Amino acid sequence: MSDLDRTLLDLAAAAAELAYTPYSNFRVGAALVTGSGEVFSGANIENAAYGACVCAETNAITTAAAAGTRRIEVVAVVCLDGDLCTPCGNCRQVMREFGVKRVVMRTGEGEPRSVPLEGLLPESFGPEALG
Ligand code: THU
Repeated sequence: MSDLDRTLLDLAAAAAELAYTPYSNFRVGAALVTGSGEVFSGANIENAAYGACVCAETNAITTAAAAGTRRIEVVAVVCLDGDLCTPCGNCRQVMREFGVKRVVMRTGEGEPRSVPLEGLLPESFGPEALG
C-alpha cells in the first residue's frame, strides 16, 4: 500500500470516530487529497429527518469545495461497523464533479482496495457536458 493511501485510510478511520449516527449506528469516515495536496476529511452526520443525512464522502468533499478546492485526486472511505464500504451512488456523482480519479477502501481484513472512479460510475454525466 502506498504511503498516501495508508495516510488517507488512517485519516478516514479517525474521522469515522466522530460520525453522528444515532439511527443507523453505521459510522463512515472519508479523507481526500486535493490537486494541490491539501487534505480534508469528514464523517456521516445523520438527522431525525432521514433525508437530511449527509454521507461521509459528501461531507469531506463539500468541506474541501467550501475551502476553494476544485480538483480532488483520491478519496479514502472507511466504515467502522462493517466490511468494505463502497460509496453510495449520490457520493459517486459528487466525486465526479471534482474529478476524483480513484477511491481507496479497506476490507474487513484491513487490505486496501483502490478502484478508479470510472469503474464505480461508468459513462457518467459531468460538468463538461454543460459546456
Ligand atoms: N453512508 C455514508 O456515509 N457513505 C456511503 O457511501 C454509504 C452510506 C452513511 C449514510 C448513513 O448515515 C449510513 O451510512 C447508513 O446508510
